[in-house]
Amino acid sequence: MSQIRIDDITRDNWFEATRLRVRDDQTAVYPCPVVYWIAESMFESHYRTKAIYLGEAMIGFLVYGQDPDDGRYWLITFMIDGQHQGKGYGKQAIAAFLEYFRANHDADRLVLGHRPDNAAAAALYAKAGFRETGEIIGGEVIRCYTFAK
Ligand SMILES: CC(C)(COP(=O)(O)OP(=O)(O)OC[C@H]1O[C@@H](n2cnc3c(N)ncnc32)[C@H](O)[C@@H]1OP(=O)(O)O)[C@@H](O)C(=O)NCCC(=O)NCCS
Repeated sequence: MSQIRIDDITRDNWFEATRLRVRDDQTAVYPCPVVYWIAESMFESHYRTKAIYLGEAMIGFLVYGQDPDDGRYWLITFMIDGQHQGKGYGKQAIAAFLEYFRANHDADRLVLGHRPDNAAAAALYAKAGFRETGEIIGGEVIRCYTFAK
């Protein structure tokens, strides 16, 4: 069984989340630090911030939410700390998040966008079952995961 779990960002762990870092060579395709997303969530009330844990260690962070403009649920950002990448945790965290989402929301789809030159994200999401919708929004490739009935 995967030791990966999704948990809330709270008063007790938000600072730890701000210590998570992508690798230096990833900042060109993933420029915003975790603290940016936490700040934005103060004003975008649909943003739900979550920590990704491996046992007791926080190894990643994500934001998701239902866009009030288009009604769709978006995985708004997703990252694994550089020290923990390349070990299969990204794949396990996406699977854990899909399970979490399914258990907590009555939606049949989840969409996301990534920069076209973010090869790691493209490969990870394609393997997890997110198919390209053909949309490009804000220069990002949009993908959609459809939950089985
Ligand atoms: C994308 C990201 C989450 C992957 O996390 P990870 O823990 O390294 O991923 P995994 O080890 O589970 O690998 C899953 C798959 O991703 C792909 N992948 C991971 N790193 C890759 C790389 N550097 N280049 C190409 N593909 C890569 C592989 O297809 C891999 O599958 P495989 O093991 O069957 O070959 C991580 O690189 C990251 O946090 N990047 C910075 C933030 C980001 O770009 N987020 C997504 C944009 S919203």
